[in-house]
Amino acid sequence: MAEEKPPLTVVTCTAPVNIAVIKYWGKRDEDLILPINSSLSVTLHQDQLKTTTTAAISRDFKEDRLWLNGKEDDIGHPRLQSCLREMRRLARKRRGGNGSSSSSDPPPLSLACKVHMASENNFPTAAGLASSAAGYACLVYALAKLYGVEGELSEVARQGSGSACRSMFGGFVQWTMGERDDGKDSVAQQVAPETHWPELRVLILVVSAEKKPVGSTAGMQTSVETSRLLKHRAEAVVPERMAQMARHIQRCDFEAFAELTMKDSNQFHATCLDTFPPIFYLNDVSKQVISLVHRFNAHHGKTKVGYTFDAGPNAVLFALEDTVGELVEVIKRSFPPEDNGGPFLKGLPVQGASLSDELLTAVVRDPVPGVIQYLLHTKVRPGAPGVTDDNAESLPLLFTPG
Ligand code: ADP
Ligand code: DP6
Repeated sequence: MAEEKPPLTVVTCTAPVNIAVIKYWGKRDEDLILPINSSLSVTLHQDQLKTTTTAAISRDFKEDRLWLNGKEDDIGHPRLQSCLREMRRLARKRRGGNGSSSSSDPPPLSLACKVHMASENNFPTAAGLASSAAGYACLVYALAKLYGVEGELSEVARQGSGSACRSMFGGFVQWTMGERDDGKDSVAQQVAPETHWPELRVLILVVSAEKKPVGSTAGMQTSVETSRLLKHRAEAVVPERMAQMARHIQRCDFEAFAELTMKDSNQFHATCLDTFPPIFYLNDVSKQVISLVHRFNAHHGKTKVGYTFDAGPNAVLFALEDTVGELVEVIKRSFPPEDNGGPFLKGLPVQGASLSDELLTAVVRDPVPGVIQYLLHTKVRPGAPGVTDDNAESLPLLFTPG
């Protein structure tokens, strides 16, 4: 049999972060990563937050290897192995046409070859900013490009990290929990593209870039084992909320969207508190941000800002474009920045705003300096589904064959 030359030997891809507005928390199958409830998220623009992964294949590579943020990482991680195995299976199936090739057939060269992957996040890893979502989405997409696999890939990304399946699409994305034991129906799909709601803005308040003390995987495992509230949430609350949230997005109803986002974040953190022993992801600064948002909304007599928090203290705020200037000014007054060597406001530019005395009195109370490291202003990721950018810069080729 003639040796097959791999269609591509090196590929670089990028993938976005997503932030859930209806949270995923709890698995019914730990290996396949099947959730106990559906979830819905907003994919964030890659200009501000992204993972870049370069994957290469060579007959000279002796083993599969992965570098994460410049340091070699454990390739034996079961989730990484699941993604690699699944992508190779799909590649084999594609080449075999109907997937019926016998396991005794020699694999094509590119499938027998080992891969080297180098991945970098341009934001803190494992700090509650969804690095695992962008990271696994990128890894799966890069492998798909390398092996020439097309089609539905969210099912594979899900096996790296649950939330990663939602990063396979731009815009507003739903992960349907599915019912099957094999997970074939536990996939992500786009609810609406970014162009549907171009005024929506996202402001991330980085309170801590430290690695979180209790990872999502371990945290949700304990919650499933011990929290009655989580069971009630998954069975009775989330199904209704999924439908409501999709409707609010379809209608671009900001007030309803933001209110439900806040309620769902609060209920997720309530299930963490209901976990035994309890898990605390929010800290005092997070709580001060929550109070500030409620004072801001009360002052305006309407919901102009919404917050959500993942498994960490960093706040993600949603607002419409015309509110961001005033909001940023209020945050600066409430949490005066201290010089930490970098700019306080990163990302999309923000128009300055002057605050009325009335607003200052009603909203800004007891400023706490230095507790917010920086703000990142971003928006929803545009474009068609997919995670690659043609002009992605190449990572340094750490993996010279050998
Ligand atoms: P986060 O809140 O940032 O998602 P997690 O603790 O849930 O934090 O996940 C962090 C883990 O995800 C890392 O330890 C690593 O195993 C994996 N991960 C993060 N970024 C990447 C990446 N770019 N490529 C591959 N795996 C990654
Ligand atoms: C609070 O997807 O990181 O961010 O599937 O175990 O890798 P694993 O967990 P992960 O959990 C995300 C939890 C969350 C909510 C969400 O993104 O929906």
